[in-house]
Amino acid sequence: MTTLSNNSAKAQAHTNIALIKYWGKKDEQLIIPYTSSLSLTLDRFYTQTTVRFNSDNDRDSVQINGQFISGKAWQRVHDFLTIVRDLAGIHLAAEVSSTNFVPTAAGLASSASAFAALAAAASKAAGLKLSKTDLSRLARRGSGSACRSIFGGFVEWQRGTSDADSYAQPLSQVGLNDVKVIALTTESGPKPISSRQGMNRSVATSPYYPTWIKVAQHDLIDIKVAIAAGDFTKFGSISELNAMRMHALTLSADPDFTYFNSETLAIMNEVKRLRHAGIECYYTIDAGPNVKVIVQSANATKIADTFTKLLGQNRVTTLSAGPGVHYL
Ligand code: DP6
Repeated sequence: MTTLSNNSAKAQAHTNIALIKYWGKKDEQLIIPYTSSLSLTLDRFYTQTTVRFNSDNDRDSVQINGQFISGKAWQRVHDFLTIVRDLAGIHLAAEVSSTNFVPTAAGLASSASAFAALAAAASKAAGLKLSKTDLSRLARRGSGSACRSIFGGFVEWQRGTSDADSYAQPLSQVGLNDVKVIALTTESGPKPISSRQGMNRSVATSPYYPTWIKVAQHDLIDIKVAIAAGDFTKFGSISELNAMRMHALTLSADPDFTYFNSETLAIMNEVKRLRHAGIECYYTIDAGPNVKVIVQSANATKIADTFTKLLGQNRVTTLSAGPGVHYL
């Protein structure tokens, strides 16, 4: 039987917001994307996960926020743990306990922080000593966006062509140091379609998908120039445009779908109104109805107050850049 000297580890990973979106897999099994993407890791939304490999158990147990999970969600964690076990050459079942720290009503937990924390905790508990690059490659196998949450600040996921060269790394040239993100939660029930299903359908049926691959590549080059130069206006404009280009792939899929609800549209209009009134801000939206508004510190309070009046206080959270994954 395999023995592990210290078979338990606890890690914390933060969510990230994509500014150039990942939307579509070239390889569904290994999660190799069609396009590279870029994100900002955030400070106030994060996941803490403890993993312990235990020779007394014959089945993985997984608790999220104090509740044992089963079914598809359990299977996804189990499959991921099996990748870690194969890497480490062990055959022990794991006990996983995970807590999401997301301010009240701020919305769904993110698979990015969840799989980044799980990758770090599980690999260490299994006795592996992975570099950040290898941790990023591992986290990618759980959820694509998780590979970016290994690092703090601005992070690029270089799509690569294989498991070996598809991983994230922090941007080396950053002249943009003043970015805040105001997270706005809309009235939302469960997602009608997961990001995984949504991107697969977009790839398979949107006639615009080949164009997305080309355009996303240019958006990425342009936003990196803006980040290096500290050009907030260019940075915000490209982020907003790229998000809308991604969402156009849902509207043009067959059957078509959208993640927007009426509040999403109302918030988008409000951001445009503020901008026309000279208060600079931009929006970005992931695979759900919630909106993130990109602002600079000088305007952050004013803009957050505007949305607090519209949505109520516990649906507005102002975030800054956050750190990469770390052990606790
Ligand atoms: C819209 O990383 O959740 O947030 O790899 O299937 O787990 P899987 O997808 P996931 O997709 C994220 C999609 C997005 C854009 C992004 O984060 O880049």
